[in-house]
Amino acid sequence: MLWNTGIRRVALWTIGVLAAFGSCSAALAQDATQKAEKVETIFADFNGNDYGDWKVEGSAFGDAPVKGTLPGQMQVSGFIGDGLVNSFYGGDKATGKMTSPEFQIARDYINFLIGGGGVPGVCLELVVDGEVVRKASGPNLVPGGTEALEWSSWNVADLKGKKGFFRIVDEATGGWGHINVDEISFSDKRRGFVELTRDLNVSGRYLTLPIKTGGAESWVRIECDGKVVREFTAAISSSNDEKKPGDFVSYVDMAPYRGQKIRVVVERIPADCELAPFGFEEEFHHGEVAYGEKYRPQFHFSPRVGWMNDPNGLVFHDGVYHLFYQHNPMSVNWGNMTWGHAVSPDLLHWTEVADALYPDELGTIFSGSGAVDVNNTTGFQKDPNGSAPLVFMFTYNGPSMRYGNLASQALAYSLDGGKTLVKYEGNPTIPHIVGGNRDPKIFWHDPSQKWVCALYLDGEDYALFGSKDLKKWNELCRIERLGCSECPDIFELAIDGDENNKAWVFWGGNGKYLVGDFDGREFKSRTAPLDAKWGGNDYAAQTYSDTPGRRIQFSWMQGGVYPDSPFNQQFTVPRELTLRSTADGPRLCINPVVEVETLRGNALQLQKSGSAADFTLVPQEGDSKDYELLDCEAVITLGDEPAVVELRGRKILLDPAEKKMTHDGVVAPLEVVDGNVKLRLILDRVSLEIFANDGLSQIAKCFVPEDENDAPLLRVQGAKEAKATIWPMKSVWN
Ligand code: FRU
Repeated sequence: MLWNTGIRRVALWTIGVLAAFGSCSAALAQDATQKAEKVETIFADFNGNDYGDWKVEGSAFGDAPVKGTLPGQMQVSGFIGDGLVNSFYGGDKATGKMTSPEFQIARDYINFLIGGGGVPGVCLELVVDGEVVRKASGPNLVPGGTEALEWSSWNVADLKGKKGFFRIVDEATGGWGHINVDEISFSDKRRGFVELTRDLNVSGRYLTLPIKTGGAESWVRIECDGKVVREFTAAISSSNDEKKPGDFVSYVDMAPYRGQKIRVVVERIPADCELAPFGFEEEFHHGEVAYGEKYRPQFHFSPRVGWMNDPNGLVFHDGVYHLFYQHNPMSVNWGNMTWGHAVSPDLLHWTEVADALYPDELGTIFSGSGAVDVNNTTGFQKDPNGSAPLVFMFTYNGPSMRYGNLASQALAYSLDGGKTLVKYEGNPTIPHIVGGNRDPKIFWHDPSQKWVCALYLDGEDYALFGSKDLKKWNELCRIERLGCSECPDIFELAIDGDENNKAWVFWGGNGKYLVGDFDGREFKSRTAPLDAKWGGNDYAAQTYSDTPGRRIQFSWMQGGVYPDSPFNQQFTVPRELTLRSTADGPRLCINPVVEVETLRGNALQLQKSGSAADFTLVPQEGDSKDYELLDCEAVITLGDEPAVVELRGRKILLDPAEKKMTHDGVVAPLEVVDGNVKLRLILDRVSLEIFANDGLSQIAKCFVPEDENDAPLLRVQGAKEAKATIWPMKSVWN
């Protein structure tokens, strides 16, 4: 039978199928006189009992189309009829190749169903004049995924009249090393999803891409001179999409390609859709996002658009605080890890500038740190009168822009005060050691005249490395079983401000820390792992380099929610870390940096009303509803019973018997000193930070605010007395 008319729309128009396809194909006959509906012609439906005139090599394809799922394979679905090409014969390790008979291209589109692996080495190719002119593969890269086939299309209008053939390749032997193909057809219309390309001249520094939040993401690559220069996943808006709150314009820095021709390839967009227009802009802050969104933090840092996690590369230089961060400029979800960048003179008022480090063929850009190379140990500064290089060490994580190597550590530098980061050509500087090794934190250790790098290895283990030039490293020691993973930090602090009595702190991702000694070779802990955090939204903190006399930290408020916003996640307020003597030995204290006070307006004149056991402090004049952003210092005098302190309705339970404070499900230790608890409360639109006992205990917590908040400014129940000073805070965006 030639036509499987029952299961498809049939084309009876001039077609380009010239060869004979035996039992595996359908479309042969053509009747140019029949002017029936001109939709599509099946080239190969793989419903027969053999591959017909296709040439089959190797073992992966067996010797006939597969009737669905092979032994050991997840359920294969989405194929048409009773057969398909499925190179899982012999499992993922088998390899092979199938080559079709030659045909002439006579229609605008080639449509096909495709599924299986997306790893290198598995693909369906169109070969014309001896060259692969189109290529497609399945969607799966990592374990899990799906064996479903989906429609894909190639626009081949530019190849009309040429002869070509298909090749189905399976050279991959690892996970997802197989491909599923069915229903190859010629058509005047695309089916399912298609690849769209756009050729552009780089006429401004930033390529602007319209992004929709919530849509399916597809691979997008930007090619220049035939080389892929940017590659990422994104949900690019199409002209059919209605604009939703949270949609945004992403800026891709194309400075290196200015004036050149680029091709943007969006690999998967529903057929019959047009991409919304792309553009070029010189300036970064155009577009519709202006920090005015409903759930935008008002004095905590958040990215203009996209996802953000860990603070990275924190360095102070020439009066400027640099804040780099894990950024997904293309989506409000984690992915495409890139270093975002913002600068500030005071740690509060930030100007976001272009993304600083983009993924490349070595990997996506995971967390890392920065410092000033005061002595030019790297030799990056060639000009004897030039300024000291800024140096940055980061993790390259595979899969890279798309495929990658195992995680390794790498170096970048800046000779223009952080405006441009240049990747060192000798990367990686520390090749893969173990597991997901990552997150290098560097500092210059003056006594031993070398750089030291703290690195997360695997499990709960870390290591220190040493180097004279940041390029060649040797391992110094290991710090094992810290009780957490990721994002190390290490620094020396004076105990109680006494410069003659110092200790070193080694810090891990969730705020576990050790107090100890470091001699340039070995870190010797004086303590078991201690806690500086007890939950809440507080993770992957990092401290600044080159802020003499102060240890300033930002932490990612991991897990906050910002409905319908074009950005996702925020940092804590900048905080200063100190070591204070306690009965148990020196312990870390975390407090807001003094700069936070510059955002205070005039202190409110509070008056007390209510009973002795349940009273409120309200401003003498004005409506408390106006006080959305607050800084509060309070001393609460407790009896034996627990007390509840509520700042604008956000409750903190103070329990003197249990020596605990609880806020929104987070429980942290509490000291009652001479009957009193000292609190510092920092309330922004979408977060509350609580610092108790001068920073010995603290909780950082995000929330989604109610539309109306009638709660009193400060309410205290069950305490003996409360004294408080409250300041309205200024937004940094005004
Ligand atoms: C911590 C972390 C790091 C990693 C980065 C990736 O949140 O997982 O270990 O470098 O985020 O975004």
